[in-house]
Amino acid sequence: MTTPAQEAARRRTFAIISHPDAGKTTLTEKLLLFGGAIQMAGSVKGRKAARHATSDWMALEKERGISVTSSVMQFPYEDRIVNLLDTPGHADFGEDTYRVLTAVDSALMVIDVAKGVEERTIKLMEVCRMRDTPIMTFINKLDREGKNPIELLDEVESVLKIQCAPVTWPIGMGKRLKGVVHLLTGEVHLYEAGRNFTRQDSTIYPSLDTPELAGKLGPAMLAELREELELVEGAAHPFDVEAYLAGRQTPVFFGSAVNNFGVQPLLDFFVEHAPSPRPRATTTREVAADEERLSGFVFKIQANMDPQHRDRVAFMRVCSGRFNAGMKAFHVRSGKEVKLANALTFMASDREIAAEAWPGDVIGIHNHGTVSIGDTFTEGEALSFTGIPNFAPELFRRARLRDPLKLKQLQKGLAQLSEEGATQFFKPLMSNDLILGAVGVLQFDVVAYRLKDEYGVDASFEAVNVATARWVHCDDAKKLEEFREKNAMNLALDAAGELVYIAPSRVNLQLAEERWPDVRFAATREHA
Ligand code: G4P
Repeated sequence: MTTPAQEAARRRTFAIISHPDAGKTTLTEKLLLFGGAIQMAGSVKGRKAARHATSDWMALEKERGISVTSSVMQFPYEDRIVNLLDTPGHADFGEDTYRVLTAVDSALMVIDVAKGVEERTIKLMEVCRMRDTPIMTFINKLDREGKNPIELLDEVESVLKIQCAPVTWPIGMGKRLKGVVHLLTGEVHLYEAGRNFTRQDSTIYPSLDTPELAGKLGPAMLAELREELELVEGAAHPFDVEAYLAGRQTPVFFGSAVNNFGVQPLLDFFVEHAPSPRPRATTTREVAADEERLSGFVFKIQANMDPQHRDRVAFMRVCSGRFNAGMKAFHVRSGKEVKLANALTFMASDREIAAEAWPGDVIGIHNHGTVSIGDTFTEGEALSFTGIPNFAPELFRRARLRDPLKLKQLQKGLAQLSEEGATQFFKPLMSNDLILGAVGVLQFDVVAYRLKDEYGVDASFEAVNVATARWVHCDDAKKLEEFREKNAMNLALDAAGELVYIAPSRVNLQLAEERWPDVRFAATREHA
């Protein structure tokens, strides 16, 4: 019989971080190809193309089966099980991306060789750094002319403040691309346009000294390469697994995702060195993956295929123990036992009913809005995983109802859609307004569309005098009461009933912070 310890050790759960267009979708496809989920190649791409425009995105969301499935892709590779968690591509969905990153054990950073380190990569890297997430790097699009590799690594080191340890090194670039050298094994992987499209089909020579290689590269290029490698060896950091696992060093690979070149050395190295599920902090103690009892937390909620039924899928990352189909689990926030019937697993080819799941895996739990982001499930122990942030929104609108009789549906719709985490819903203490906060402006269109489509409510969103919001905490109950009385005009409750200060301006917030030194104004609400 297998144990959580054995199964956890085989798991590699990660996400790809990159700036749009660096090649995340293409690389995902190739990884799935190696994992044997060949039928997926192509479909990931189509989904992405449709994601670009708002209207398409909505039409796409109607086919929720697809988007639920590809949120988590699981495939076997060698004797490992790889879970790739998709991070939403649109800039508006930053918050979702952050939360997905709380559910992984490592990340893969994709950089366009011509563009180098871009703005979104910098932001995502900051998030990874909060948890010291280990990161591997793939420098993509080597079939095009790009920056000098040594300068590019310097750029990564100085901009992202992480040591680079090249594991493969390019032989030429653009039209002159001939292959990569594996710096640890000495192997040379040849680039042969056309051949590398299929899996495991590249020609590999055991070392640079292989006589045939001189013919392939030409003596001039070979000499140039040897010189460059000497330079790299002298200047670059050698791979240090401890430094990688601590998030201080990133192993670097070069390749071309679209040509499926350089991907296999990356994947081989990844399954060997990327961390299996690590211990996680909770409100009471650290939970180790090899514990016998099930625990996990919800990092994402998605409305399911049939909006009429308000059915939603909560994505739970398993942190310890074993999940069995139909088992009962303790929903810590509500204090109730819940039967996890028909939970889903996410094989890359299809989604399936989960027979079992292990630490590092993700399961999808059907529910009708009772499960929220940040919720913990256990086998009875009252602990909650920490560190799943809810960010203060930056944009606010008041919901305006065309038919006043639909107020109840509107409230319900706003509250339920907010559970998915992309928007937040506030009820001011002193007015009947319903205020929606979002991180991106596209969210208001999405919510208006879904209110109509799923709740039959015709609502629009209009400007409101709120500039920013802060969750309010105070250890002194009397002080808090006083604060509440004096500031009732600027206070609201969020969907979970937590007190929030909604400031008409940044200056107002600053003044309030100065006037009430005992009150904490938090820009994130940790799901507890
Ligand atoms: P993303 O998910 O990170 O946004 O990037 P995606 O994979 O969609 O790739 C962005 C563009 O870069 C795509 O071109 C893709 O084909 C191309 N690309 C990916 N990997 C490589 C590579 O190794 N070499 C080259 N030359 N291009 C690459 P597109 O024109 O937007 O789409 P398509 O028309 O090619 O499908």
